[in-house]
Amino acid sequence: MMANALEFPEALLLKLRSAARVVVLTGAGISQESGLRTFRDPQNGLWRQYRPEELASLEGFRRNPKQVWDWYAYRREAVKGARPNPAHYALVEMERHVPYFTLITQNVDGLHQMAGSRNVIELHGNIQRVRCSVCGESALDWEDDGLEVPRCERCGGLLRPDVVWFGESLPAAALQAAVEAARQAQVFFSIGTSGIVQPAASLPYAAKNRGALLIEINLETTPLTPRADFAFHGKAGEILPALVRASWGE
Ligand code: APR
Repeated sequence: MMANALEFPEALLLKLRSAARVVVLTGAGISQESGLRTFRDPQNGLWRQYRPEELASLEGFRRNPKQVWDWYAYRREAVKGARPNPAHYALVEMERHVPYFTLITQNVDGLHQMAGSRNVIELHGNIQRVRCSVCGESALDWEDDGLEVPRCERCGGLLRPDVVWFGESLPAAALQAAVEAARQAQVFFSIGTSGIVQPAASLPYAAKNRGALLIEINLETTPLTPRADFAFHGKAGEILPALVRASWGE
């Protein structure tokens, strides 16, 4: 479906233009058009050749720290080469028009901030940040000889990516802010996420249950689709810019 052929219901445009509080939840799908793999896409998702538990869990790290460290080093390199796509920039534009705009992301690639989004809540951390797995000290730079996992300068513990792994709790302040924003949202977008990983997956329901208009933009249907007031299935990089243009003009 060509983006400019997209027609948006007038009711949606009116609601969006008049909303004071808009909240957006994004997942890996919004970065797919920046060339970054998603997690569960059957044909090329990151998990296709690995099991998530092996690579993105404390247990996996303890069992094979080098394999986990190297996998994140590979993903960090991929992120370094990535640039925001029209979907990221459409959200920057949307933020300009909405009095109270909150962007909650499950992504760790930092592309929303690179695009210029200001109020960003990183629920799952950021892959460019590294911290000590023992004392928690942030490491701004490190020597990686490719043989051993780099160690903390302060305590000698193994370094790890500053991201949330399966089984780990989310940063409490970030989750609290996300829940508060969702509860007060007048319009809530779920964009590029399969909507199955908790607690992020509960946020759209928290918004909907408090009266928000729920909009899903995703390549395929998800468990959230039946609850959405409007569901647009296609590429976020096409749908979002068209929706922002239709709502607020160029
Ligand atoms: N435009 C819109 N949606 C897209 C696009 C696109 N160009 N490409 C893919 N998608 C959709 C897919 O159809 C899929 O439903 O994005 C979704 C991505 O889902 P996942 O791969 O499960 O990623 P995500 O929902 O972000 O995963 C949540 O799980 O693995 C953990 O911590 C990790 O943050 C991640 C969390």
